[in-house]
Amino acid sequence: LRDIVVLGLESSCDETAAAVVRRRADGSGEILSNVVFSQIEEHAAFGGVVPEIAARAHVEVMDGLVEAALAEAGLSLADVDAVAATAGPGLIGGVLVGLTTAKALAYAAKKPLVAVNHLEGHALTARLTHGVAFPYLLLLVSGGHSQILRVDGVGHYKRIGTTIDDALGEAFDKTAKLLQLGYPGGPAVEKMAAEGDAGRVALPRPLIGRDEPNFSFSGLKTAVRHAAEALAPLSRQDVADICASFQAAVSDVVADRVGLAVSRFAGMRADGRPPVLVVAGGVAANKAIRSRLEALMTDLNGRLVVPPGNLCTDNGAMIAWAGAERLALGHSDGFDVAARPRWPL
Ligand code: KG4
Ligand code: ZN
Repeated sequence: LRDIVVLGLESSCDETAAAVVRRRADGSGEILSNVVFSQIEEHAAFGGVVPEIAARAHVEVMDGLVEAALAEAGLSLADVDAVAATAGPGLIGGVLVGLTTAKALAYAAKKPLVAVNHLEGHALTARLTHGVAFPYLLLLVSGGHSQILRVDGVGHYKRIGTTIDDALGEAFDKTAKLLQLGYPGGPAVEKMAAEGDAGRVALPRPLIGRDEPNFSFSGLKTAVRHAAEALAPLSRQDVADICASFQAAVSDVVADRVGLAVSRFAGMRADGRPPVLVVAGGVAANKAIRSRLEALMTDLNGRLVVPPGNLCTDNGAMIAWAGAERLALGHSDGFDVAARPRWPL
């Protein structure tokens, strides 16, 4: 085994990103560059990501980001060992931009292509940032996903829980939209919640106590709407109280569902090592949810690992890293590999 340097591209949602990552022979990693262009401003007026606008914006900036990522790493394309790109799941127009760019670069430079599952990128990031050893549990909570996965090895994932309706980030975004707090909603709801009384509005805790570690957030969203209607017209304090109540409800739900998953995971293991929970996705930035998970893992004699915020949200480094991990095992893909809007791990 030797060091592997990979250029990685990400374009599956509203971030265009390119990064260069080194994976050393001992399995440790290093980010040589990590460039992200956020399209948030392009979509803000619409209150959510517009796929066609996203795809066009990816086209406009991807070339420049690749150049910037290579320059920042002090490398040229000839120096990298492979080119990786998200091949799904995601908005297909955007995925095509990154994957096609990666194919062209790999073909021109005669380098292997690695088609990466975006979720695998999130799943393996903690190995880049914290050197976490397999197996571990992953809570992936973003605008598009709410899943609990067991990560047993590169390419070995088992989904043990998922949302049966909305994603958690989506619930934050819809709550924010309803309360006219703008997009993206998560940070705005968290900020207002800090001024609010979490006991003011009674909200449900969907699926708490259920036997399978799944999530459901759409009922909560409806309850928030009813609460807002009942209090209308809303004062700033009303909005803050609703946000605080919402955040408390989702924190309870996450702690309960993840607690169940971690207990089962720990119970299945014979080696007695403390269970590790990794959190990824934009919602990992939420301090209330984070501190609940910290307390939970302390109670369960385990460890919580949260990569830095810029590596929890969509980025190129996670794709480059997943590409490097796959390449280290001898995996690469043909130029006929297809972009996939849906691609469960
Ligand atoms: O991972 P991400 O950047 O993009 C994808 O969805 O793939 O996650 C974005 C989501 C949005 O729904 C956003 O509202 C949510 O993460 N989010 C938060 C916070 N920051 C971002 N949710 C709750 N609290 C936050 N501080
Ligand atoms: Zn993502």
